[in-house]
Amino acid sequence: MDLGIKDRVAVVTGGARGIGRAIALEFAREGAKVGLLDIFDEGMASTAAEIEALGGTALGLHCDVGESEQVAATFQKFSAELGPVTILVNSAAVLDNVSKIEIMDQRRWERDLRVNLTGVFNCIRAALPTMQQENWGRIVSISSVAGVLGGFGQAGYSATKSGLLGLAKTVALEQGRYNITSNVVYPGIIATEMFQFMRDDMKDRIRKRIVFRKEGEPQDVAWAVVFLCSEKARYITGVALDLSAGLTLFTF
Ligand SMILES: NC(=O)c1ccc[n+]([C@@H]2O[C@H](COP(=O)([O-])OP(=O)(O)OC[C@H]3O[C@@H](n4cnc5c(N)ncnc54)[C@H](O)[C@@H]3O)[C@@H](O)[C@H]2O)c1
Repeated sequence: MDLGIKDRVAVVTGGARGIGRAIALEFAREGAKVGLLDIFDEGMASTAAEIEALGGTALGLHCDVGESEQVAATFQKFSAELGPVTILVNSAAVLDNVSKIEIMDQRRWERDLRVNLTGVFNCIRAALPTMQQENWGRIVSISSVAGVLGGFGQAGYSATKSGLLGLAKTVALEQGRYNITSNVVYPGIIATEMFQFMRDDMKDRIRKRIVFRKEGEPQDVAWAVVFLCSEKARYITGVALDLSAGLTLFTF
């Protein structure tokens, strides 16, 4: 199936590793030009090299999503070097603030908000001008089951991931007139570095709640996200797609 995004410019935040990296590579396989936006330079360089080895085009730019001026300048650079940005995937996030709310460090709570929520707001605002000019756009933000179910010890992370649902739906309402869609996917457990560091007994407990009895691969998220960014998904907007394979389903 031709997804109809050849030569479009897709910016992937957090594209240096994990899920963002898999998404960036999938865009390249579909013939899109890829802008990588991350603070992890080494990872960006290796993702870009892999894209170029596939015969694709990639540009990695160091940028902190939480810094609005930096973000605006970075998107201008992507458009100047690659062409107008019409696809944005927000994958960058911090996932390491784990503690109960009464002892949660205020600065870490604020960092969660700055990166995971304000960061997405900054990137959407920076990408909209070129999407509006082109009268075509696709925005997908990566939320989490923690944004839907809450997460024990994850007040900051889960609050920001819930926030993405309201943000994405609002953008869908406001930007439909420009043929810009805005959606969220919420993965459950995906085998990235974060999961490798989890204790084995915890991994086993979680696997029992997944209908396939195993964690997902970054590629599983990438296929869904790239489809939502395609021409074929032109009538899908304001949606929150569950990619948890059962973690949100009730069972006895
Ligand atoms: N891995 C999972 O099981 C899982 C489950 C549900 C949701 N998610 C979500 O999927 C997305 C990707 O997760 P992952 O597992 O690939 O994470 P990861 O930690 O492997 O990758 C995150 C990337 O974001 C970048 N980043 C962090 N702070 C940044 C900043 N301020 N500015 C720019 N870039 C920054 C990091 O450098 C890194 O490259 C995240 O939004 C995460 O919340 C992951």
